Amino acid sequence: MPTLPELPAPVAAKAATAVSLLREAASRYAPVVFANSLGAEDMLLTDLIWRERIAIDIFSLDTGRLPAETYALIATAEKHYGQRIELIFPRPESVEGFVQQYGINGFYDSIEARKACCHARKVEPLQRVLAGKGAWVTGLRAAQSTTRVNVEPIAPDDANGLVKISPLADWSEEEVWAYIRTNNVPYNALHDQGYPSIGCAPCTRAIQPGEDIRAGRWWWENPQTKECGLHMVDGRLQRIVKEGTAP
Ligand code: ADX
Ligand code: SF4
Repeated sequence: MPTLPELPAPVAAKAATAVSLLREAASRYAPVVFANSLGAEDMLLTDLIWRERIAIDIFSLDTGRLPAETYALIATAEKHYGQRIELIFPRPESVEGFVQQYGINGFYDSIEARKACCHARKVEPLQRVLAGKGAWVTGLRAAQSTTRVNVEPIAPDDANGLVKISPLADWSEEEVWAYIRTNNVPYNALHDQGYPSIGCAPCTRAIQPGEDIRAGRWWWENPQTKECGLHMVDGRLQRIVKEGTAP
C-alpha cells in the first residue's frame, strides 16, 4: 500500500495550534459558526473541524451565482465527511430588487452596483446567520492581499457584534496546500485550472503565472476596493486587537 507523504513539522505545528484555537473558541464563545466559502483555506478548516469533532456548525452563503465546480465540491465534501454544509440563500426580494434596478449582470457596470449585489447575496444573509452567535470562523490569511495584511487570529467584529476567529491568519499558500495534499482534503477543481481564489462565477477568472492570488476576483476593479463587504466596516478591514485582549 502506498504511504502518504508526511506533513512538514512546521505545518503540523500550525495545524495543532489552529485546532486548539478552534476548540477554545467553540467553548468560550458558543454558539460558534464557520463561514465556508469552499476555497482551499476553508476546506482545510472544514477538515479540522469535522475530523476533530469540534462543536462549530458549518455554513456556506449560496449566492445563486457560484461556479458549477463549487456546487460539485459541496456534494463531494458532504459524501467524504458524511456531514451537511448548511446553505444560506439570499432573500428573493433583495435579488429581484437588484436585478430590476441594475440588470442581471449589472455588477460589471459600477462599484456601487457590484457592492449592492454582494450586499443582497452575501452580506445580508451573513448578518442573518451571525445574529445571536458568539463568534464566527473565517479562512482569512494575512498574505492573501493588501487589504488583509492586518488579519489576526482573534479580532472583534464590531459590525456584526461578535468575535471573528481566523485560525489561518499566519499561514502561507504553500502551507495550506501541503495540508490539503497530505490529508487528501477535497478541493475545488478550479484550483487546478489557474484559480487560486474562487467566488461567484461571473466575478472570478483564472490568473496568469506571477499575478497576485486575488487578481482574478473582480478583476475590473482597483485592488483597494476588492472586498465584498463580508469583512469590511466603513470601507476598511475591521479594527484588530491582539490575541488575548478580545472581548
Ligand atoms: S471574499 O470576501 O473576497 O469573497 P474570500 O473568498 O477571500 O472572501 O473568502 C474569505 C472568507 O470569507 C472565507 O474564508 C469565508 O470565511 C468567508 N466567505 C467568503 N465567501 C463566502 C461564502 N460564499 N460563504 C461563506 N463564507 C464565505
Ligand atoms: Fe454578485 Fe459578483 Fe458579489 Fe457574487 S461576487 S454577490 S455575483 S457582485
